[in-house]
Parts: sequence; C-alpha cells; structure tokens
Amino acid sequence: MDLLETIRQRRSVRSFLDTPVEKSMIERVLSDAANAPSAINMQPWEVHVVVGQEVKRLSKKLLKRFEERQITCGPGASQKLPEKFIDRARGAANGMDPLIQEMGSDFKTFVNTGSLTFYGAPTVLFTFIDESFPRERLTDVGAFMGYVVLAAAGHGLATCPIGLVTLYDDEIKDALNIPETKKMVVSIAIGYPNLEAPINKFRSERAGLEEFVRWIG
Ligand SMILES: Cc1cc2nc3c(=O)[nH]c(=O)nc-3n(C[C@H](O)[C@H](O)[C@H](O)COP(=O)(O)O)c2cc1C
Repeated sequence: MDLLETIRQRRSVRSFLDTPVEKSMIERVLSDAANAPSAINMQPWEVHVVVGQEVKRLSKKLLKRFEERQITCGPGASQKLPEKFIDRARGAANGMDPLIQEMGSDFKTFVNTGSLTFYGAPTVLFTFIDESFPRERLTDVGAFMGYVVLAAAGHGLATCPIGLVTLYDDEIKDALNIPETKKMVVSIAIGYPNLEAPINKFRSERAGLEEFVRWIG
C-alpha cells in the first residue's frame, strides 16, 4: 500500500486472531521501523519481543495483578486536563461502547482486561529505554513506535499500542528478566486482525487543523 494511504488507514485493532506471526516478518517490521529519526542518531529504543505461550503466561500474571490492584487505563495526567482533551477521550469511549456491548462486555472491563491480555495478539513488542537517558529521549521511542505501527500495517499486520502495561512494569520486568535500569515506554500488540470482531469496526476520529495548528507570519 502507498505510504500516505497506510498513514490514513491505520487504526488500532482490539481483537487479534491466534494465528502466529513468523519471526522473519517481525524482524522485517523492526528493521523498517528502525529507520525512525532519533536525536544524534542514538536510537535509544530497546525492544523485547514476547511470543506465543509466553504472551499467554504474562497475560495471566497481569490479569491476576489487575484483580488485586485495579490499576486501570486513563490519561495518566497529574493535573486536570483541558476540557477538549477529555472530550476527545470521551468521544473515543462513546464510539467504542456500542461495539463492545455487542461483544457482551462493557467499556472498562473490555479495555482494561483487553489491554493486559494484548487483545489476544500472538506477539507483543515491549519498548524500553535505558534510565540514563533524559525524559526528552522518550520522543525518539515514540517516533519509533509510530514507525512500528506503520511498518506493520505496510506488511499487512495489525497493531495496538498498549500503554496500560507501564503501570505494571515491575511485574513485567520481573517476568521477562529485564534489568532495573531499563524503563518501559510502551508495548505494541501485533498480529492479524479478527475481522469478525465488532470492536475492529471502530474508527477513531481526528480533530481538524483549526483545533491544533497556529500559523505565525
Ligand atoms: C502511547 C499509547 C498508549 C496507548 N495505550 C492503550 C492501551 O493501554 N489500551 C488500548 O486499548 N489502547 C491504547 N492505545 C491506543 C489508543 O487508544 C489509540 O491509538 C487512539 O484511540 C487512536 O486510535 P487509532 O490508533 O485507532 O487511530 C494507546 C496509544 C498510544 C499511542
């Protein structure tokens, strides 16, 4: 698919098929995504790829933790957010809600338990950065994540970035044997979409340029 078409059409998928993704395919996605720009080309991203039964094992642990701690998806803001951002989040939730109900669940349960089980994806990429980097370098890992989701789409794969896992980073680092000195940035569920699942019909909207662009001169 043409690059601009891929950019316009990519959307997060929240129900994956069990079908495994070949290691060589994931490697192609990652080497394409590694073309992302980074400050002085430091490429600060580090990726742990979790596959198959290991995803299931980790999901089980995370669900158990979720039941104990009830740490849920949210904007993660330390201050009250301006209303327009809350409205956009509400818009996404309202758009997904009827599709989730069609699947016999409710929004909160579906998104929290779905995120912690990677929506059934057979492969999950966990991106990390060394703690010695300043927080500005998270930008680079964010750019890398953007490239991963687009490269995956270009290779015919579906993705969903999953940030909820960062609130369970102790559990994940322990399970995956990742040193204390690494900081988790985001995970990305990757696989083939379940086209039958109602939630995958959801298309998130975007604000018009007038809402976020200011021209000077
Ligand atoms: C950093 C980041 C974290 C995210 N975390 C989650 C998550 O924990 N669970 C989830 O279902 N979606 C998550 N998403 C997906 C967003 O909800 C999604 O990108 C947004 O609603 C726009 O929809 P689209 O990706 O379909 O265009 C995350 C996306 C980003 C970029």
